[in-house]
Amino acid sequence: MITIIGAGKVGSAAAFNILRYRISDVVLIDIFENLAKGEALDMMQTAPAIEFDGKIVGTSDFSAMKDSEIVILTAGEARKPGMTRIDLMNKNAAIVKSVVKEIVKYAPDCKLMVVTNPVDIMTYVAYKESGFERNRVFGMGNILDTLRFRSYIATELNVSREDVRALVIGEHGDSMVPLVEYASVSGIPITKLLKEEQIEKIVNLTVSSGADVIKLKGSTTYAPAATIAIMADAILRGRNRVMSVSTVLQGEYGFSDVSIGVPVVLGRNGIERILELKLMPKTKKFFEKSVLTIKEAIKKLG
Ligand code: LAC
Repeated sequence: MITIIGAGKVGSAAAFNILRYRISDVVLIDIFENLAKGEALDMMQTAPAIEFDGKIVGTSDFSAMKDSEIVILTAGEARKPGMTRIDLMNKNAAIVKSVVKEIVKYAPDCKLMVVTNPVDIMTYVAYKESGFERNRVFGMGNILDTLRFRSYIATELNVSREDVRALVIGEHGDSMVPLVEYASVSGIPITKLLKEEQIEKIVNLTVSSGADVIKLKGSTTYAPAATIAIMADAILRGRNRVMSVSTVLQGEYGFSDVSIGVPVVLGRNGIERILELKLMPKTKKFFEKSVLTIKEAIKKLG
């Protein structure tokens, strides 16, 4: 079973994706009990239309997450137009710390997926607070950035998104690093298909994509929700997918004691292993800058 903590737009849309693709039953927890109950009731009423026979429960009772295989933490303040994800840090760190105590109490063996922003720092807080092994605590960030990177490449080339493969690493934030040297369309490097200025435009669009949506509609919903569902699917079905997630490095890429997006194999045990890529000198510099951004922010944690 999957528990989602936070029945806001992203948490509820993620719950619906998980039900719709028959990934798992869902417990949806929110401090505002009626919101959780109302979202669950609304989704149950769609069940015949999406031929879903599972169940979803909405509650404010943390004990309902008992023995969940995956707990997805979306609770916290969302950023407003003009804010960076790091602006949310101390307020959301307090929320994450208090919720992680409940997770340790009721679902001590779960895989803990952190969505609350700034996700790299919240993943670090959740890892430290939970005392879980590193493979069981990870943040949803760069996979979302990767979906956006892939979409923009497909649009620029007018090709199917299905054939575009790419990776984004680093902060789920302004210093993220879309890996141009590893992006391809059916194995053809995008550097062979796009001009320098087209690639630069795509990279910039990827970095600002979350903020672009927030400027227009106040918050992002469908893209993070879909990303959460594909991560949950990879874990519950043991699919060993290669994705970038935020994880606490212990020497990988030359860094430790910082949670940041790197490519991993995501499967039954959560992070099965971290993949250390050879980065071009320019990309390595960008990644190091991103690591330092997160390390600086962690130092300022209240
Ligand atoms: C976004 C939020 C989830 O990028 O950080 O949409």
